[in-house]
Amino acid sequence: MGDKVYYITTPIYYVNDAPHIGHFSTTVAADVLARFQRLRGREVLFATGTDEHAPKVAEAARQRGKEPQQFVDEIVQTYLQTWQETHIDYDDFVRTSEPRHKAVVTAAFERLRERGDIYRGIYEGWYCVPDETFWQESELIEGRCPNPECRRPVQKVQEENWFFRLSAYQDRLLEYYEAHPEVLQPDFRRNEVLSFIRSGLRDASITRSAYGWGIPVPDDPSKVIYVWFDALLNYITVAGYLQDEAKLRDVWPADVHLMAKDIFVRFHATLWPAILMGLELPLPRRLFAHGFWTVDGEKISKSKGNAINPRQLAAEVAERSGSSYDVVVDALRFFIFREVPFGLDGDFSTTGFVHRFNSDLANDLGNLVNRSISMLHRYYEGVVPAATPDPALVALAEPLVRDLPAALEELRFHQALDLIWGFISALNKYVDEQAPWRLAREERREELARVMYSVLDGVRLVAVAISPFMPVAAGEIWRQLGMPTPLAAQRWDEAMRPGGLPAATVTATAEPIFRRIEEKRRPAKEKPVAETTPAPAEKPAEPAQPTITFDEFQRLDLRVARIEAAERIPGANKLLKLTVNTGTDTRTVVAGIALWYAPEELVGRKVVLVCNLAPAKIRGVESQGMLLAADTEGRAVLLQPEQDVPVGSKVR
Ligand code: MSP
Repeated sequence: MGDKVYYITTPIYYVNDAPHIGHFSTTVAADVLARFQRLRGREVLFATGTDEHAPKVAEAARQRGKEPQQFVDEIVQTYLQTWQETHIDYDDFVRTSEPRHKAVVTAAFERLRERGDIYRGIYEGWYCVPDETFWQESELIEGRCPNPECRRPVQKVQEENWFFRLSAYQDRLLEYYEAHPEVLQPDFRRNEVLSFIRSGLRDASITRSAYGWGIPVPDDPSKVIYVWFDALLNYITVAGYLQDEAKLRDVWPADVHLMAKDIFVRFHATLWPAILMGLELPLPRRLFAHGFWTVDGEKISKSKGNAINPRQLAAEVAERSGSSYDVVVDALRFFIFREVPFGLDGDFSTTGFVHRFNSDLANDLGNLVNRSISMLHRYYEGVVPAATPDPALVALAEPLVRDLPAALEELRFHQALDLIWGFISALNKYVDEQAPWRLAREERREELARVMYSVLDGVRLVAVAISPFMPVAAGEIWRQLGMPTPLAAQRWDEAMRPGGLPAATVTATAEPIFRRIEEKRRPAKEKPVAETTPAPAEKPAEPAQPTITFDEFQRLDLRVARIEAAERIPGANKLLKLTVNTGTDTRTVVAGIALWYAPEELVGRKVVLVCNLAPAKIRGVESQGMLLAADTEGRAVLLQPEQDVPVGSKVR
């Protein structure tokens, strides 16, 4: 067998509820890492799944008058659908109610009982149902669950149970973590684990009186196995434990178990490794706990109804922006890592998301892609010229190429995105400084070829680099670039080498990928209204207008004009203020084209102007005339003379 398979897991989620932004963030993190490892050429096993035997799941089923199995079979669909519709490309989805898993749990229980690691005793203490956790009286805070993310009332429990001899593993666990400090991540969480273990481990109750759901204790049907003992074992079920020894050897130990901090210390960093020691299996290489999301400053809670459903949010934002649903999903995948260093707590707000969407995606990335491909069409009919990349730009790509792998490998996603956006800004600045429109005007063909090649090759690097985060958007950039080999077939080392864009590549027409969202909230159903550009063309094409006479047409004063200067209008994201030379005068025109044209690329361009349109004040600026533009799928494409003609030429 070849290299070890890179094995990544998420927690398996309780199926009493639909997945929200918290579950989404862990699963996306795992997906980003999985995609990155595949890009590096590693074989990956990325597993997620559902934890179905919890008492609270049984309770939720009962409340709906359903059998637990029927209930979980229904709810699991929401998870499957959510992951599918948020571009989660897992390799295995494990359900704890599956026979393959039940067999592993039963066998592991028996094995540990034979070794004397599981024994019968009386449990007296407290149980937190939402957390499915046993607590000692002394651990409670004001009589409630001491987990800071929970703090809900607990139930008194007194029952005969089976115990796992956790106390016997205290020293071995401490020794292990002392020898392998890198297992507990991020670093700042390590001490919490060590002090929890040092404070003394008590044996853990790992069964409950049967409640009509769950895996029965072998030879003791009055009990079912505690949901956490059951759930943790999913990680070896997926790895082939007891079913496929060769697979187990290739896959185990897990390279990363990902989760939030709520289930890190007690369960993943203490109980789980102790169980593995008892089963004589190697311990996971990394346990990574990220922070908790709040929404608009508040804890996510069912009673508040503030749990953000990622699919619903993406659908709403897509409707507001005009970008495709899949692109907005990608934007959401990007957003959860963009602002908050992965590992720390973060606050989610739709306003924050929209703001980032507009600034980082519509503006920085979207504009870069759109203007570079548009310029290629303008200057090279869309075909990539042969040139070598500008060494200045290669140097700017270096931090990205060099540091991105380690940032992703170590789950420093925030830093990874900083590196990528640093390069995007550098590319935009390069375009502004090199001003290809000027090189074209001055007929400096060689320089123009080098600049255009370098920028488009930079866009190609960006597409590869963002692909683990935004697979659909990256694929769309790849398509527009006209790359001959599929993005999915790329390998990091080769793909991230500058100069990999083949000369003579035929690019597709530039189409905006990220369409700016109005920042003030509109009712979800209302379509944003364009400010000066005509409303997007309906399909099929609008019915023809009533005819006009030739004389009426003659009343239009259409002329070729040249744009002398262009600037944005603060506070109006769709508008540009243009200074236009009509051949007889120089005037100001406000045009609603800022989403598709950067001011710099317009200067020097010849356009068709309606000169005798009555002046109008738009956002406080007097506009004297209107540029003619084709309106295609809501996007404006400026009309320009097919050959060079003098400024002031009449258009008839
Ligand atoms: N079923 C157990 C896990 C068993 S793993 C062997 C469980 N399930 S859960 O549905 O409650 O999911 C917990 C996980 O969901 C957290 O560890 C985290 O990955 C994610 N999150 C749930 N709420 C979250 C936030 N508010 N913020 C961030 N992540 C959160 O526990």
